[in-house]
Amino acid sequence: MAEPKENPLMEKIVSLCKRRGFIFQSSEIYGGINGFWDYGPLGAELKRNVKELWWHAMTRQRDDVAGLEATIIMSPQIWKASGHVDTFADTMRECPLTKKRVRADQVEPQSGTAYTFLGAGETKKIEAWLNLFPHDLRNQKIKLLLKPWEQPAFGNVLAGEKNPYTPPTDYPDNLEGRIQKEAFESIKRDTILVLLPIGKPEESVIKKAKEYYYANGFYEPFLFEAWTIKQSGQTLDSIDYHPESGFLLSPPRPFNLMMETNLGPVVSADSKAYLRPETAQAIFAQFKNVLETSRQRVPFGIAQVGKAFRNEVTPRNFTFRSREFEQMELEFFIKPDEVIEAIHGSVFRVHGSGSENSDPGTLNREPQPNWGWEAWHKYWVEERVRFYEGIGLSRETLGFHIQTKEELAHYARACTDILFKFPFSKKDEHGNVAGDELEGIAARSDFDLSQHQRFSGKPMGVFDDELRAAWAKLPKEKSDELWKRYYENRKNYLTKSAKPDETPEQISQQATEDANGLAKGQYIPHVIEPSAGVDRLILALIANAYSEITETDDKGKTETRVTMKFHPRVAPIKAGIFPLLKNKPELVKKAQEVRELLRPWMNVFYDESGSIGKRYARQDEAGTPFCVTIDFDTLGEKPELLDTVTIRYRDDGKQERVKISELLDFLLSKIR
Ligand code: GAP
Repeated sequence: MAEPKENPLMEKIVSLCKRRGFIFQSSEIYGGINGFWDYGPLGAELKRNVKELWWHAMTRQRDDVAGLEATIIMSPQIWKASGHVDTFADTMRECPLTKKRVRADQVEPQSGTAYTFLGAGETKKIEAWLNLFPHDLRNQKIKLLLKPWEQPAFGNVLAGEKNPYTPPTDYPDNLEGRIQKEAFESIKRDTILVLLPIGKPEESVIKKAKEYYYANGFYEPFLFEAWTIKQSGQTLDSIDYHPESGFLLSPPRPFNLMMETNLGPVVSADSKAYLRPETAQAIFAQFKNVLETSRQRVPFGIAQVGKAFRNEVTPRNFTFRSREFEQMELEFFIKPDEVIEAIHGSVFRVHGSGSENSDPGTLNREPQPNWGWEAWHKYWVEERVRFYEGIGLSRETLGFHIQTKEELAHYARACTDILFKFPFSKKDEHGNVAGDELEGIAARSDFDLSQHQRFSGKPMGVFDDELRAAWAKLPKEKSDELWKRYYENRKNYLTKSAKPDETPEQISQQATEDANGLAKGQYIPHVIEPSAGVDRLILALIANAYSEITETDDKGKTETRVTMKFHPRVAPIKAGIFPLLKNKPELVKKAQEVRELLRPWMNVFYDESGSIGKRYARQDEAGTPFCVTIDFDTLGEKPELLDTVTIRYRDDGKQERVKISELLDFLLSKIR
């Protein structure tokens, strides 16, 4: 279903983000830079909270995950091994007029009448030549001039086709001959196709064609009527034309998304390095160091939060697709299924994987020793959904996409994307919204560690005493079967990622060695990768929190107020602290004492200006879940209320009285 181009809710969100200091356009004073965003005071707090909560949930709250903070620039070899140098590309198409690129799979369908222009001449030169002839002969002369290129039928010409014109070589040796030569030689054939949108006048398409020829070296392009071919019918919903210019797009070609830089003073092929396009690869590269220093044993994970860079062809939907963004990634290393089977006799079978994962009844929340990759994958999808619920994104706001066999990378066993229903998410033909990707949870087999082992020459396998002992006790039939399965998997991987000079014999020898390793307790761990984008999550939280109320006052004036209903855990400011009146030193002093009491524990905002109503409204817009007011009762005007404050709740406006001595615990219980 086609989506309306304008999205009023997104416009409101973008404007609120700027007005209240959540998100600004990067380099705004210089006109901005496409695909880059800055977080203002409220946005920076929101982002910090989200990253802290993720880190807390993924590392400190667990015994089986260790953290890592690696550099953004790493050895370019890492990106060769990971496959990013060769295959991390989007297919893109280019507009011949503006040179703007669009992702081939994201072109908005266009309708209209297509025009083909076969080329142009230089107006002054063509006219000078035509002026040699009487008016009624000119058309005939032009036909003669264009004779070498008979007008082809519409559809038989290719845009971008450039046939070098070979003008006649002998011209009369006089003024007329020279004029003719100049006119003929000014003609260049350079075919373009432009779509004239329905309802627009023909002049606009002619103007665009001239713009193109002007940009391609003509001083004043002359378009020949015989070289302007109009399509007889109409083109409907075509994804071959640039939505802004109407020009037929170039053929799709791959465009590597990695951002390059150079190290050291001399720029050469050897100085080339990349800004990381994902945080994950550092985890694989440091796998052995973390394993040895953290005293972890498989199954265990390594978590990292940090910047990633991708030269996205079309950054869009505010921060959703940016060129600089942050990721929160976990690589959770597990034993291959053959190893589980050797040790435990069988692998726990999971009913339903992917988004059927939202049925929590099928899997024990406590990881079990006999879990293979399917159970671990399902477990992590569920853990991640629980995380999102815990910060205010209900299941109804989420969706799932289980990647099909065709979508999966050759080495991946499964990948479930967790989606959020953004305001810009598309509706299907029934009006349902699936959502757009927040996080992908992939079962990546042993591909990554295997690649780094092959490219670095350093062993990435682990030794497992339990496996060695169990293997020795296996009946021959069973060990043969497991050996064969492991061998086939390794051979499959080695074949698919073989270097050009590797022979089938070498591959099978390597796979044999790998499978023989099982008996010695050796294997390369498999990995489950929950990979989330910080910026996308921030955008989801903002969109989810946004709510408006329109009220009409006694005088009939309507006002729309925005409340950002962030979950207290992520809210940028946890509590607003207000003295009832700013000109009463006792109230101000007490309010400042309350601020100092809370400050070491949470982000609070002290505000004494304007009416209480205005102060509440300001905090509602910032998403502050609690406002604490210090009034005369706090000072003991009603003795029984001495040292109590009112707490006002953002979402329902209700208020209650709380003792200052209990305030900190009360708030901590809500924000943690
Ligand atoms: N290591 C796996 C990986 O990087 P990905 O699906 O390419 O997988 C993971 O990225 C997550 O990173 C996405 O689900 C998304 O949240 C975020 N992400 C990816 N590209 C992004 C972009 N251009 N702008 C903002 N976030 C992005």
